[in-house]
Amino acid sequence: MKKLIAGNWKMNGDLASNEALVKAMLADIGTPSCNVALCSPALYLGQLQSLLKGSPIAWGSQDVSAQEKGAFTGEISATMLRDFECRYAIVGHSERRQYHGETDEAVATKAQRALNAGITPIVCVGETLAQREANETEAVVKRQLAAVIHAVGHCISEIVVAYEPVWAIGTGKTATPEQAQQVHAVLRAQIAAASEHPERVQILYGGSMNAANAASLLSQPDIDGGLIGGASLKAADFLQIVRAAG
Ligand code: 13P
Repeated sequence: MKKLIAGNWKMNGDLASNEALVKAMLADIGTPSCNVALCSPALYLGQLQSLLKGSPIAWGSQDVSAQEKGAFTGEISATMLRDFECRYAIVGHSERRQYHGETDEAVATKAQRALNAGITPIVCVGETLAQREANETEAVVKRQLAAVIHAVGHCISEIVVAYEPVWAIGTGKTATPEQAQQVHAVLRAQIAAASEHPERVQILYGGSMNAANAASLLSQPDIDGGLIGGASLKAADFLQIVRAAG
């Protein structure tokens, strides 16, 4: 299976800096041997579409509404994302779970909406530091993924999972390759039990992945790629991670 390196820009960028960043990436990316994607704020998806169409880099959103359409002010539906040819939609990022109260069930519905629109959801799971210290890591990530398995049934083979320990996000504290691998193996087994095609499901690691630590994380047997925050805002760093995945 090809690896996937996906950038999550979070709430960063503007028209001018996005263009400069994407052009710098395209100038140097060559023909990557892994899948590559950038997830921008929704307002800039049209810009990514025009800059990236026909290139080796796909694009995606950072969220999608759990609703199909209608009176939901401020929401963006999966079919709207499809209009802009999004290949991916991140769902259930810990920042959305934490700051927007997204429940496991809401995240599962979002994953279902994306799949219905032909968009691959990148479903984020991960424990907080307190949960890790209380030895709850496995139970937490399994519960988060179980909600999605329950909602999407056999379509579970069509999702991407991202394991993002909350304590490693934006902190510079990366999980060790062994810590990450341990959780990835648990997720892999859970998917294998629920899926007809578990070999299709990429499980990404996210949380302070950077140019220096990417190779050792990506060499673990169950780490199929990365979801990259801060380092996706620098072309050279992001491309080094892409190369480490090749
Ligand atoms: P950082 O790479 O900045 O730690 O962010 C990880 C992340 O949350 C990606 O979704």
